[in-house]
Amino acid sequence: MSIKTVGVIGAGTMGNGIAQVFAQSGFSVLLIDVAQPMLDRGRAAIERSLGKLVEKGKLSAADRDATLGRLATTTSIDRLVDADYIVEAIVEQPEAKSTLFTTLDAIARPEVILASNTSSISITRIGAATKRPDKVLGMHFMNPVPLMPLVEMIRGQLTSPESMRVASELCVTLGKTPIEAADYPGFIANRILMPMINEAIFAVMEGVGTPEAIDTVMKLGMNHPMGPLTLADFIGLDVCLAILTVLHDGLGDPKYRPCPLLSRMVAAGLLGRKSGQGFYTY
Ligand SMILES: NC(=O)c1ccc[n+]([C@@H]2O[C@H](COP(=O)([O-])OP(=O)(O)OC[C@H]3O[C@@H](n4cnc5c(N)ncnc54)[C@H](O)[C@@H]3O)[C@@H](O)[C@H]2O)c1
Repeated sequence: MSIKTVGVIGAGTMGNGIAQVFAQSGFSVLLIDVAQPMLDRGRAAIERSLGKLVEKGKLSAADRDATLGRLATTTSIDRLVDADYIVEAIVEQPEAKSTLFTTLDAIARPEVILASNTSSISITRIGAATKRPDKVLGMHFMNPVPLMPLVEMIRGQLTSPESMRVASELCVTLGKTPIEAADYPGFIANRILMPMINEAIFAVMEGVGTPEAIDTVMKLGMNHPMGPLTLADFIGLDVCLAILTVLHDGLGDPKYRPCPLLSRMVAAGLLGRKSGQGFYTY
């Protein structure tokens, strides 16, 4: 089956970036969310991002217009009957993902691959919510999607080699580099990244340094392009907490225990960039 139309579910930080790169690469994209305001924000974010590429001379105005012409947004999930490939990017909650995948399994044509952008949740578990676990896999894009070259590819226990091949080739078509990881909590990227972010938050809580001092140490001392607290704000503190919870529950090691300051900030609605306030003000 040739892939022409791609469904992307969830129009938040990641979903709009994923929709953008597919549309830029010539696919028709159906971007779906439960909330119309998120779809409006998602489209506006894509327009801004494409506008910046035009300003920098990396994209022509005609290609920007063509990309936007290939993007449709809707709250009606039934439209996914037209999709040839689906990427899910909703909240990082195991139950929400399983429920959605059962619905997707009922709507999408039987041959369609269902990919999840999950940062940490078991692909095998998500696949078990469907009758096509051989066609469920992890396609973990990095934030911001239009700029980051990596896609972490996760093979569930029953994912077929053919599904992995199709998805990996799709990454290459998008100009990305696919790297395979096994189905363990947090895969490669977040198993390594999140303990560092969590430790940086413990360091704030214990008064070891201010957020600015901690970020500057990691930037100037370790040559990281962005400090861990700036990065946490960028990812979303709710997403960081959800990932750490999956790591802690799944690996059973106290070293993954989410920092109480992180839990408190999320409970207070301080989610980082997307809420306007996290370790920094936006
Ligand atoms: N934020 C990051 O840096 C990052 C990086 C890589 C992967 N991820 C993963 O991507 C996924 C999305 O993260 P995000 O940061 O974009 O989250 P987000 O909170 O910005 O957006 C989630 C969106 O999903 C929508 N949604 C929730 N339930 C839905 C449903 N049942 N059907 C349709 N839409 C629904 C919400 O309305 C919201 O617009 C998560 O699995 C996350 O772990 C996030």
